[in-house]
Amino acid sequence: MVRGRTRYVCAECGAVHPGWMGRCPECGAWNTIEEESVTTEDSRSMASVTGVASAPRPVTEGAGEAPERLATGLAEFDRVLGGGIVPGSITLVGGDPGIGKSTLMLQVSYRVAREGGRVLYVSGEESFSQARMRADRLGALDANLLLYTETSMDAVAAQIEKGDWRLVVADSIQSMHTPSMPSAPGSVGQVRECAAEYLRLAKGMQAPVMLVGHVTKDGVIAGPRLLEHMVDTVLYFEGEGRQSLRILRAVKNRFGSTNEIGVFEMRETGLHEVLDPSALFLGERPKGVSGSAVLPGMEGTRPVLVEVQALVGESHAGSPRRAVSGVNPGRVSLLLAVLEKRAGLRLCDRDVFVNVAGGVKVDEPAADLAVALAVASSCLERPVREGMAAFGEVGLAGEVRAVDAARQRAAEAAKFGFESCMLPRGSAADVPPGAGAVTVARLTEAIRLGLEGQGAEKDNQ
Ligand code: TYD
Ligand code: MG
Repeated sequence: MVRGRTRYVCAECGAVHPGWMGRCPECGAWNTIEEESVTTEDSRSMASVTGVASAPRPVTEGAGEAPERLATGLAEFDRVLGGGIVPGSITLVGGDPGIGKSTLMLQVSYRVAREGGRVLYVSGEESFSQARMRADRLGALDANLLLYTETSMDAVAAQIEKGDWRLVVADSIQSMHTPSMPSAPGSVGQVRECAAEYLRLAKGMQAPVMLVGHVTKDGVIAGPRLLEHMVDTVLYFEGEGRQSLRILRAVKNRFGSTNEIGVFEMRETGLHEVLDPSALFLGERPKGVSGSAVLPGMEGTRPVLVEVQALVGESHAGSPRRAVSGVNPGRVSLLLAVLEKRAGLRLCDRDVFVNVAGGVKVDEPAADLAVALAVASSCLERPVREGMAAFGEVGLAGEVRAVDAARQRAAEAAKFGFESCMLPRGSAADVPPGAGAVTVARLTEAIRLGLEGQGAEKDNQ
């Protein structure tokens, strides 16, 4: 059915509304509704999206078969995807401009090309010589890697359909345009239509497609958020903390977990994998200073040591400040209340800042003990015991509760020279003797044993 009418789309969340509104009722954003005239074919059936007619099939068909994956050999990248790129999948790689998305995509493309797969790299933002120069600098020259500087979706579609591609990269989706939409490249309609076209091509050709998308904070240009529900996998490439550190994170993954992170360092010669992130995250940790605790956290299947920092100070404002980054602020509020009520620390009228060094985000209950120790350490001006790491969940009654992966966490701490690791008594059975375990059942016990300056006899077991 051909529609010739106007519709109103939110640039923030992509919701379609019958008329213009100041505020999107779907996501609550202000001034994000854009007018858009629709002249394209209605594409509600899957066949029109994928180009392949669909029929009902038994759910048992092909059950138990893991999707075949294309491993790029860039281990940090493959792991975030769940073991490589799934054929016919469509992945969005989002991130701030200049963070290194093109560099990452070019390095991935080169690795696929080097193994004999033909790669189509559609570059809509750089000239051929610019893109080639970058490839040259990265040592990513291979005849199987074809650079195509084009922004017209029709031309790109024709190329994709013509060739037998192992991988297609569209850098960026915002630079593409299709004549079926009257609006400018980068507008909501253009981005959505072009992404839908790539989706159709990916599913039809069984070639995986990677869409690069710039994130814009103000939402003026249609951002990748609009595309999140259309694609199979959403990766965000972020740089925080150390200037050269880059973290690749899956926020949606139809073919794997979203817990894994990939860590890279941006150097002159491109992105280098950081296979041992613990060493990097702890590199600048101050010693003998109060307010710092080391957490053996789990990032997906991998243990990673991170430093939790806290600063507790006199408040000069009417209501004390609480600023938290890297951990859940609600969780920190709860821990402050428990520290106050169960461990007798005075915090209610003091400013509290909590931060995870290195720009890492920790979102697991096992972080509680390290956060609580860092806060207690700063509050009491007593450093956490030298050479001690800590993990465990803290309950409202001030109890320290068992968490998963205790063995891997304690082993990672030992690997990095931590002589002792404070952990919940309930997890003690999972940790081999000799791992330097200091087991605790109560927060008060943890503070007594974990901070310098008071009785610190090890729990022998
Ligand atoms: P780029 O991949 O162009 O970012 P994006 O596609 O996300 O906009 O990378 C941009 C920055 O990375 C640029 O400022 C230069 C830097 N860079 C390096 O430090 N080393 C390198 O080898 C390359 C290719 C880029
Ligand atoms: Mg780029």
